[in-house]
Amino acid sequence: MITNNTIDKFKRIETPFYYYDLDVLKSTLDVVKKESDNSGYKAHYAVKANSNPRILKIISSYGLGADCVSFNEISAAIEAGFNPSEIVFAGVGKTDKDINAALSAGIFCFNCESIPEMEVIDELAAKQSKIARIALRINPYVEAHTHKYITTGIEESKFGINTWELDNVIKRLSDFKNLKLIGIHFHIGSQITRMSVFKSLCARINELQVWFASHNIVLEIINVGGGLGIDYENPEKDPDFHEYFSLLHEFIDLLPGQKLHIEPGRSITGQCGSLISKVLFIKNGSNTLFAIIDAGMTDLIRPALYQAHHKIENLTSTGNIFRYDVVGPVCESSDTFAKYIELPETARGDIIAIRSAGAYGEVMASRYNLRDLPKAVFSDEI
Ligand code: LLP
Repeated sequence: MITNNTIDKFKRIETPFYYYDLDVLKSTLDVVKKESDNSGYKAHYAVKANSNPRILKIISSYGLGADCVSFNEISAAIEAGFNPSEIVFAGVGKTDKDINAALSAGIFCFNCESIPEMEVIDELAAKQSKIARIALRINPYVEAHTHKYITTGIEESKFGINTWELDNVIKRLSDFKNLKLIGIHFHIGSQITRMSVFKSLCARINELQVWFASHNIVLEIINVGGGLGIDYENPEKDPDFHEYFSLLHEFIDLLPGQKLHIEPGRSITGQCGSLISKVLFIKNGSNTLFAIIDAGMTDLIRPALYQAHHKIENLTSTGNIFRYDVVGPVCESSDTFAKYIELPETARGDIIAIRSAGAYGEVMASRYNLRDLPKAVFSDEI
């Protein structure tokens, strides 16, 4: 909740910056912890959503594991207090350097996406005289009904092992003396808001469980990945973790001794962050009023890259409602946060909040146009 008191404090801070409401983050984590404890499922936070060291530290203090896609993420996670034995390493293109470092760090599991990747991990593990635990990331061909750039579980996607290749994978397993298969992994996309999608995933997982059992392969873990969406129109609303956990409980048939893992990213950090900016100029187009703000696509690229919708608020005006295109200063027409949205009459110096920006915001910032990277401000510091 951004209160009047907080807005007064914003006036004294150089914009643009990410504002993280730690009470929101903690109350989200309370729910995740409660649901995980009740269900016995293990949540690994997807570090790629937000790897700010303070945020990571708070998340690790709730006992979550981490899901990482580079060794830099793994070291940031370890630095923040995550236990290496609860870190999974995903990604279609892991480098030898990162695989070696992850083996040395003693991570929990590599989520493997191809036979060539398994060959390399096996070889590097042998050189370190280690056994690498692996889970097979399988492409379940489930349509996620989300933006195409963040859909990952359909045919001819670069992600995951195709089911037609599983026979080959199983045949090759006996060659890999330094790999131990412990489970299967899925991730079909991000910002999934139709719960029925997860139901379809559960049905596919049950079918695959039967297949693995018929090949006498014991799977200790089933990892369903991330993907639970947030409500970008209602920044105060938490994702419905209870519904999500209940759905998994109802529709996945776990075998005795199996543990279910999840990898939530956006659903944990999305609603705690806002990008705070100031209006530089109001410019008249022929038919459009442009509110040019000092945050740009370099600070938050989601609208430019995925046509993503973020709720935008003018925190300092109570004037009559007009319609504006809210744009950044970067030399690209795609540097547009929203078109023709209603805002109270907006003027130079007004403070603008772009809400639900705690996930895939700060982490995706760049220095294009040699702009400064946005800073992070925490609710308990101001
Ligand atoms: N697990 C794996 C293997 C993933 O690839 C991802 C996200 C997650 C977990 C976490 O998913 P989440 O719970 O956050 O949906 N930059 C995009 C999102 C990219 C997601 C990539 N993978 C955006 O801003 O919408």
